[in-house]
Amino acid sequence: MNLLEQAESDGDTFHEHSDVHFQMSCDLMNEYLKPQRGESILDFGCATGRPAVELASRVGKSGRVVGVDIDERRIALARAELIRLHSSHVPLTFVQGSIKEAMRLGPFDGTLSNMVFQWIKPVDRSIIMKDIYSSLKPGGRFVFLVFPTQTQDRFIFKDILSLLSPSGSLGSVWGIYLESVSTWLQLCTDVGFDIEMSDVKMVEGEEPTVEDLVALVEAAVPAFKSYMLSEKDVERLKQLYRSGSHEKIRYQCRVFTVLARKPL
Ligand SMILES: C[S@@+](CC[C@H](N)C(=O)[O-])C[C@H]1O[C@@H](n2cnc3c(N)ncnc32)[C@H](O)[C@@H]1O
Repeated sequence: MNLLEQAESDGDTFHEHSDVHFQMSCDLMNEYLKPQRGESILDFGCATGRPAVELASRVGKSGRVVGVDIDERRIALARAELIRLHSSHVPLTFVQGSIKEAMRLGPFDGTLSNMVFQWIKPVDRSIIMKDIYSSLKPGGRFVFLVFPTQTQDRFIFKDILSLLSPSGSLGSVWGIYLESVSTWLQLCTDVGFDIEMSDVKMVEGEEPTVEDLVALVEAAVPAFKSYMLSEKDVERLKQLYRSGSHEKIRYQCRVFTVLARKPL
């Protein structure tokens, strides 16, 4: 069994369902981070490494990319993918840990962090943000994307997870800590960042069936397994997401993007 098969049999399906995240990361690179040849870039919370591989192709051989993730299995998958791509000559390093473990490989021209900060407990965030700030060169940029508190009425995480914990909060039960747009911004400015751009927008997705939608949430939420849902729960979701005669399941999520810069 190879690493990918093993991780999937262990229940880590993130890699298999990472297309949505990958597309979001590429949009962040194109619209906000704009990595340049020769730059040194950190991908904070890189998971199985697809965006980091893309970043490496953009900074080229004269640049450097570090991907860091707290999840040991995902970093193992990222390293396996790097070997599979025969990319040992690409200056791309995967580190298991958090920002402290990645800092020593800096300083960085830019840091990307897609869909990570909502998984970090509020009590730990300021110190992590401070370390991200310290690990950047003067003028360095930090681009991150998170869920704001105001997601929308049909928020897939809430719709699916509240079937199992109707009265519990997403944070205390599932480890998803949403914040208001102003709290996310203040987290940056408190450590010294200047905010260059911030933007709330809607991301739209489509899955063939409700079961695929559930699998997407399973891949993103470590504590959730699709077998926890009863047939009645799945039926309820089908009713919620059925859109007229359209067979596919469509969903939307509001996301918040920030481009912050360390002053010169
Ligand atoms: C939803 S995934 C996003 C993956 C990736 N950024 C992408 O767009 O494909 C969130 C990742 O953040 C990682 N993570 C959460 N807290 C972290 C921390 N304190 N340090 C490093 N990684 C962390 C998780 O292990 C998980 O792989």
